[in-house]
Amino acid sequence: MQRFSTFAKSIIMKYIILTISLAAIQLFSVTAKEKAALPYQDVSLTVEERVADLMSRMTIEEKIGQLNQRNGYIDAEELRADIRRGNIGAFVNGRSGEADEMQRVAVEESRLGIPLLIGRDVIHGFRTIFPIPLGQAATFDTDVAKEGARIAAREASAEGVNWTFAPMIDISRDARWGRIAESCGEDTYLASEMARAMVRGFQGDTLSDPTSIGACAKHFVGYGASEAGRDYNTTNIPERQMRQTYLPPFRTAVDEGVVSLMTAFNENDGIPMSANRHLLTEILRDEWGFDGFTVSDYNAIQELISHGLAADRRHAAALALSAGTDMDMDTRIYIENAKDLLESGEISMEMIDRGVAGILRTKFRLGLFENPYIRTSHDVIYAPEHLEAARKAARKSVVMLKNDNSTLPLTDGCRTVLLTGPLSDAKYEQLGTWIFDGEKEHTVTLREGLQQECDRRGIRLIFETAMTYTRDTTKLSLERAIKAAGEADVIIAAVGEESILSGEAHCLSDLNLVGGQRALIEQLAATRKPLVLIVMAGRPLTIEHEAEMSDAVLYSFHPGTMGGPALADLIFGIESPSGKTPVTFPRSVGQIPIFYNHNSTGRPLRGDELYIEDIPPKAENTFLGCTSYWLDIEPTPLYPFGYGLSYGDFSYSDITVDKSSFGPDDTIVASAMLTNNGQYAAEEVVQLYVRDQTASVVRPVKELKRFSRVALQPGESRRVEFRLPVAELSFVGIDFKECLELGKFTLWIGGNSDCRLSTEFSVTK
Ligand code: BGC
Repeated sequence: MQRFSTFAKSIIMKYIILTISLAAIQLFSVTAKEKAALPYQDVSLTVEERVADLMSRMTIEEKIGQLNQRNGYIDAEELRADIRRGNIGAFVNGRSGEADEMQRVAVEESRLGIPLLIGRDVIHGFRTIFPIPLGQAATFDTDVAKEGARIAAREASAEGVNWTFAPMIDISRDARWGRIAESCGEDTYLASEMARAMVRGFQGDTLSDPTSIGACAKHFVGYGASEAGRDYNTTNIPERQMRQTYLPPFRTAVDEGVVSLMTAFNENDGIPMSANRHLLTEILRDEWGFDGFTVSDYNAIQELISHGLAADRRHAAALALSAGTDMDMDTRIYIENAKDLLESGEISMEMIDRGVAGILRTKFRLGLFENPYIRTSHDVIYAPEHLEAARKAARKSVVMLKNDNSTLPLTDGCRTVLLTGPLSDAKYEQLGTWIFDGEKEHTVTLREGLQQECDRRGIRLIFETAMTYTRDTTKLSLERAIKAAGEADVIIAAVGEESILSGEAHCLSDLNLVGGQRALIEQLAATRKPLVLIVMAGRPLTIEHEAEMSDAVLYSFHPGTMGGPALADLIFGIESPSGKTPVTFPRSVGQIPIFYNHNSTGRPLRGDELYIEDIPPKAENTFLGCTSYWLDIEPTPLYPFGYGLSYGDFSYSDITVDKSSFGPDDTIVASAMLTNNGQYAAEEVVQLYVRDQTASVVRPVKELKRFSRVALQPGESRRVEFRLPVAELSFVGIDFKECLELGKFTLWIGGNSDCRLSTEFSVTK
């Protein structure tokens, strides 16, 4: 009986499909002129009317074609033929210079003239490269992130890109994972605010603006929690943590109107993301009301076979389509299987239609039917204002971790500077990971930036690279650098990691400086000349030893095209450093995962713990303090989340909340006095943290809720005020629903997550 009904269903389905296809082909095989006059081309109709009209004219094959994304590197004739047949809906990273020609074939030569989405990884800039996203997060400045995305969209759209695979908003708490470089770091609130800004920047004020490109929030979801920091690895994120920590940046992007989301490579608790119906359908569409489309990551649907979830390609396609993965990235898995799956009744027409509608909606919203071709001038590429914005972003992204004896900024007394280290003149490495279109010829390096500034001031700059690249162990020219140090008033050593050491699939088990860099720093330090370390990297490295040996440390997550002049601006005090760590810096890999907003344990530190050196030989098996710590390393991080120094000297005092007790609908007004006791004008990122003291589920020890950049002149004081609706104290309750519980809260205002200035308030009925 069961078999008969499946058979009957399949016959009926085949009949329906045939009828729709014939009707679509016969009734609407149209000439170009007729095509232009069809209702879906009529701009006076609403997007939904246009989508419905177009879909009513599409064959099953044309619908499935929209779900198919190809890369542009296959034979051009084969590609054209496929576009003409309506078999391709979008591109991933096509050949540059060919966007308009591919659009022309789609619009003029395919039956219905549906334009293409031309997608590209524009991750932190198109040609003008901004700091890597982790560096942009270090600015704690959403305007910087928004402008970076806006400029990237302006440049990319001038070369025909209308969709980007960004922002990447995976919460990343493991610096071993190479993709931490692409992320906004460990904090959910910071990543959400950055997500909002970046979506706004890419998508512009209206999607149909010629310089707007569709954004794609990725990777949905939890990818950053890959076990052991190894890329593509399993994650095990329970539902509450998923909702509390990993989903909010995506929710923010959806609320901001992001047109698409990319499914992640990881499987979570046994379900790979491209086959995860709970997340892709129940949460994303049913709970959040998302009406755009989802795209798989590269080959991710096919990989359901490697995961052991799907038996073959057909099965993989069925699992992904039923879960809610709308577009397949470059494997042709839907093109080859979706029609057959439909005919056999294994997937429903609704599953296809939902994806097609989301994709067409996006194309209409982007205005592609009216304007499929490039509409802006190529002159925007590397426009002076883009380079200036990149310089400003790089400046704000640098985190000063140490500045003993006011080593920085360099003053007029400094007559000779030695610049050394493998990243001091590294045009390509300075750009960081994921730059398809950035050109190293346009990079201004630290050496070039410093040279300009030194020339202006009549300072002598000696340059001895000492190492050719960061992994170099030959130490060939080390001696020359050490010798030159004798002539210098100050040494600047640019170390870190090459761009290839972070990014996708570039994970590490050891986060110490690679190659002969430690030896170089040790020998430079031994000269006893003031030593300034500039670290360029894609992640927080474990630099405790090197930081101890140096007088000052500027940490610059790969800073992009204008990194050199930006660093020179900071070194000479043209502007004060103001970046803050967007991730906790571990002392050693063994501390990972280490992040500030962990849940409270039953046995937090007491401060009287015994360490390995305190334990006598032949000690009996006693319990050393019985708190949550390691025997062999301090429990604290090297630098906490939100940390960063400046040339100003900021202090906080007099924290207040406007009431001691708030109702659920109230807004808390909290403030503290900020004073710049130093001699330099500077900006400070003021941060507000909250802790729910008692709740029905265990809550984090501290959570960032607000941040703000405040500029103060020397000696100036200002009361910094934040408004926080009580509703934002809600959390994912025992039943996995958002809830607000009454009770006592602690509130801190300060310059990093380890700040101590606090007050209390209650939430009552
Ligand atoms: C990455 C994505 C990227 C895609 C297209 C994948 O390997 O995981 O982040 O957008 O390739 O290049």
